[in-house]
Amino acid sequence: MKALIQREGTGFSRVLSVGSYLPRRVVTNAEICEHIDSSAEWIVRRTGIQTRRFADEDETLAYMAATAASKALAEAGITANQLDCVLVATMSHLYQAPSLAAEVAGRLGVRSAPAMDLSAACAGFCYGLGIADHMVIAGAARYVLLIGAERMSDIVDPHDRGCAFIFGDGAGAVVVGPAEEPSIGPVVWGSEPRHLGAIRQEPSWQDTRDPGGASPYLRMEGPQVYRWATGEMADVGRRALAAAGAVPGDLAAFIPHQANLRISEKLVVALGLPESVAVATDVVRNGNTSAASIPLAMEQILASGQARIGGLALLIGFGSGLVYAAQVVRLP
Ligand SMILES: CC(C)(COP(=O)(O)OP(=O)(O)OC[C@H]1O[C@@H](n2cnc3c(N)ncnc32)[C@H](O)[C@@H]1OP(=O)(O)O)[C@@H](O)C(=O)NCCC(=O)NCCS
Repeated sequence: MKALIQREGTGFSRVLSVGSYLPRRVVTNAEICEHIDSSAEWIVRRTGIQTRRFADEDETLAYMAATAASKALAEAGITANQLDCVLVATMSHLYQAPSLAAEVAGRLGVRSAPAMDLSAACAGFCYGLGIADHMVIAGAARYVLLIGAERMSDIVDPHDRGCAFIFGDGAGAVVVGPAEEPSIGPVVWGSEPRHLGAIRQEPSWQDTRDPGGASPYLRMEGPQVYRWATGEMADVGRRALAAAGAVPGDLAAFIPHQANLRISEKLVVALGLPESVAVATDVVRNGNTSAASIPLAMEQILASGQARIGGLALLIGFGSGLVYAAQVVRLP
């Protein structure tokens, strides 16, 4: 058999830049409570969330994703035509086809790079970062654009007492490219399908075709998700630190998926993070933006000066599946 030529890798990769987009409209807990039997005080006590953003009609998923991406590209000094891949992590794109990534690539003026969506719910950004890192290291791409974008307000039932107060809309993007030193630690990722139904769409698209069929919405077993995340994600974080050869004291920042402030606080304690580590608390202002939450929080923690450029950050994403992914990265 003729020997095949295999691409040579390029060494290391890093996150070169981060950009974000938040919808204009701020939604208070009082507004959420117009539709559910709850109170602003209960929502803050149970989740830490004070406000979230909901996108207006003109703030489409593609618009938000492309706006965040344009900022990340400008920050990295990369043009759309230099991209070798466009990856979009999302769970709220309402079309089975075409992909959101293809639409965003079109908006950005990408000529012919591959573009695809990634379905790993709230772990989607960390999954995408693992894939982008591997692509660059393997020489399959020089520059990868990775976006997390969500309009959760389209898929969350405003009358659902277990979900309505948690989620928000927004988009965050990073450019991943070559580096001279190791700057993205090995991804530690996995799935636990025994919790398959803990966060799910209900009913299926097929069922909506029945006469009188209900609209599909995201449904969640909150206490089950809470117990799983607080019980198991610290170990995932510890494994990501060990895989990167790092210890908690090396970190400048901890940027967990912004699911719920109580979950983040429990993880800080379980991981034994020293006070010198800045902890992302974006969930307080922007709610849980699913795949967008980690890049949004990364942008915020850098912009506020809480964490320094080039410092190490531990990222942990987790969500529907249930699935998870974590890695240590050098901040852009
Ligand atoms: C959703 C969540 C805040 C609910 O909090 P909880 O303490 O687990 O709530 P429970 O469902 O056990 O209910 C506890 C009490 O609060 C009440 N309650 C539930 N939802 C309420 C609401 N929206 N407002 C006011 N009270 C509510 C219940 O009726 C119950 O009252 P009771 O004790 O009198 O029976 C919590 O489970 C959670 O944060 N889960 C993780 C969610 C998450 O992060 N998801 C994203 C993952 S990607």
